[in-house]
Amino acid sequence: MKIVVLHGQSHHGSTWNVTRLLLEQLRPDTESLREFTANGVPQCMGCAVCILQDEGKCPHRESVGEIIEAIEQADVVIAESPTYCMAMTGQLKSLFDHMAYRWLPHRPHPTMANKIGVAISTAAGGGAGRVTKDIVRQFFWWGIPKSYRIGQPVFAAGWDHVSEKTRRKIESKVCSAAEKIRRHAGKRQHSLRLAVLFRVMAAMQRGGKMSRVDRAYWGTNGWI
Ligand SMILES: Cc1cc2nc3c(=O)[nH]c(=O)nc-3n(C[C@H](O)[C@H](O)[C@H](O)COP(=O)(O)O)c2cc1C
Repeated sequence: MKIVVLHGQSHHGSTWNVTRLLLEQLRPDTESLREFTANGVPQCMGCAVCILQDEGKCPHRESVGEIIEAIEQADVVIAESPTYCMAMTGQLKSLFDHMAYRWLPHRPHPTMANKIGVAISTAAGGGAGRVTKDIVRQFFWWGIPKSYRIGQPVFAAGWDHVSEKTRRKIESKVCSAAEKIRRHAGKRQHSLRLAVLFRVMAAMQRGGKMSRVDRAYWGTNGWI
């Protein structure tokens, strides 16, 4: 099982530790695990050349290309972020912005249907559920049909201060997610909502409503 982890922060706090617990359960060997932190990714400038022309022309391709390729090769994509002001970190969002061209209306990667997404967040009190939902929305629009969410209030500013009771709750969520991931990884996933949306997008491409670059891509993949 190939796993890629996108860390929305560079420090090793509660969110990082929850992700570690999940990785301990999934036990990928060294070659099957790629980890990246979003901190080094520059902010998207909004030039839209990735969408309108070619992702290779993105001025930040050197920073994001390797990460995006690792996502495309993985069976399981884990994205994690602490909750900041009820949202994911700006760094993780900026990484996601660099993948706008991979959204369904544009050029979704054909392997996405075989992937599982995992969204992880911790908050001191509220907002972790919202963050995991926002991350899963990104996965969905990339075309990933199945995702799991681990969102947890930890009532603490750091992992060392998280109570035993909360840790047990986290372990239970992590074990349950790991069991499902092991069961489904590497298999084709299904989502009726995604299948319908895919057909709508195909109709839009056929009708010439999107860019020529996107239309050509859908044609090359035999989707229209
Ligand atoms: C800038 C900032 C904003 C935060 N915003 C929230 C928030 O909206 N809701 C919340 O419950 N906790 C918030 N917190 C607390 C963290 O989400 C919480 O401590 C989290 O577990 C930190 O994860 P980490 O240890 O992985 O950094 C915030 C912390 C920081 C530094």
